[in-house]
Amino acid sequence: MARIAVYVDQTADRATLRNAERGLSGLEIDRVADAADADVIVFDVDGDYLPMLERFREGRPLGVAIGFTRSLDASAWTAAERAGVDRVVPAGRLAITLREVVASEIGGGIDRRIPLCNVADVAGRLGFLVSAGTPFGEVGLFRISGGLRCIALACPHAGASLATGVIECSTVTCPSHGSQFSLDDGSRERGPADCGVMSFAVVEEMGRYFAVMPL
Ligand code: FES
Repeated sequence: MARIAVYVDQTADRATLRNAERGLSGLEIDRVADAADADVIVFDVDGDYLPMLERFREGRPLGVAIGFTRSLDASAWTAAERAGVDRVVPAGRLAITLREVVASEIGGGIDRRIPLCNVADVAGRLGFLVSAGTPFGEVGLFRISGGLRCIALACPHAGASLATGVIECSTVTCPSHGSQFSLDDGSRERGPADCGVMSFAVVEEMGRYFAVMPL
């Protein structure tokens, strides 16, 4: 298996760089000096990272971008996620996040977390909660009696959005022609659609819900 190429922005402060080194220690990686050559990049989202992120994405559209913040500025955090940073973490969590992401990548499959919403914004609500754009198209977060579910929203029959579908137990019915899908795993329960939709695990981290996507 190819080794994972990792780029760490060296303009970070010493404590953060040490933290990054701790996360990477013992892992079979190649360190690269240019973000464009990396599979995983690490950088400060409080700084001017967009040109580097763009160069990285040009070469590795499915690479993993990890941003850290020391300021914990919510607007910088949100802007980074919107810009396509896969994981934004406080600088203090960098080591553990880096280790988790790179170890997973070495293991052959990376989980990318796509932010869905703040936990507080959907507290106490049932049914369809929110939608979010992802590399797999628009996905929807639902809450049913069994808990949170996340599936792709475009009905495979003719593209109607399942966001406005009727929900019964763990089944959502497409509003256009009545195809039914399981919210548990996205499988088709009834046509006219001839296949199911993708489903994703949902995790909660630091007061937010994320869809977990294998990329
Ligand atoms: S678009 Fe969903 S069943 Fe036709």
